[in-house]
Amino acid sequence: MNVVLLGPPGAGKGTQAKLVKEYLSCPHISTGDLLRDAVKKELPIGKEAKSYMDKGELVPDEIVVRMVADRLTQSDTGNGFLLDGFPRTIEQAKFLGAELDKIDKGLDLVVYFKTSEEVCVSRLSGRRICRDCGAIYHVKNMPPKSDGVCDVCEGELYQRDDDKEETVRNRFRVYEKQTEDLIKYYGEMGLLYEVSGDTDAEELFEILKKKFDSIQKNA
Ligand code: AP5
Repeated sequence: MNVVLLGPPGAGKGTQAKLVKEYLSCPHISTGDLLRDAVKKELPIGKEAKSYMDKGELVPDEIVVRMVADRLTQSDTGNGFLLDGFPRTIEQAKFLGAELDKIDKGLDLVVYFKTSEEVCVSRLSGRRICRDCGAIYHVKNMPPKSDGVCDVCEGELYQRDDDKEETVRNRFRVYEKQTEDLIKYYGEMGLLYEVSGDTDAEELFEILKKKFDSIQKNA
């Protein structure tokens, strides 16, 4: 199944993606993770992207679409993919549609995580991520068993540079200005499935599983 996860920063896209990728047996492709990896490795794309990411602005389309085009041609996408954080602009959505047309594929579902700004800010200010395996925690909502240590692999937990309140609020503004148009775009294509990002994470996963099952049953 080919699925896009759409929603504001902190809506819980990454948290659900980690569960859904196992359920659907397909890769989780997060443009944020790909960009952070390029920054860490000091690749040319990473050097260019860093200044935008630090401010909470979108990285220019031409950089991101190249990266996604490369990733979608990898063999592990044969059974489908879970795109998280892409597309984020109408241009990126059109690019994705054209790339999928070329390989005779299409999107099956766009899950929209509707979540308020205040919930997102409070979630991101408490988010901690494992440096080694990428597991996501929250100091209050989903705390690790031991402070600062990953339950899964015992890696060190860290806070993302762009999770400071001021940057989060700017990311939210950027989302409203540049990404929200995609709700209408995919709604008109009949692909949008709205869920409340405020729902408890396990409950939300159950809701998503039911939706995927019904799509697979009717395929
Ligand atoms: P990216 O990494 O994509 O960040 P984002 O979209 O802002 O989303 P986040 O990862 O912050 O949030 P999330 O929804 O995944 O929430 P999570 O599950 O972690 O992008 C970063 C930057 O890269 C962008 O600003 C931009 O510069 C650049 N970029 C990326 N893609 C781009 C593109 N396509 N074009 C241009 N630029 C691009 O959860 C958050 C917290 O909440 C966690 O602590 C979690 O434990 C907790 N939580 C999750 N779900 C629940 C729940 N149901 N109940 C309670 N707590 C919960």
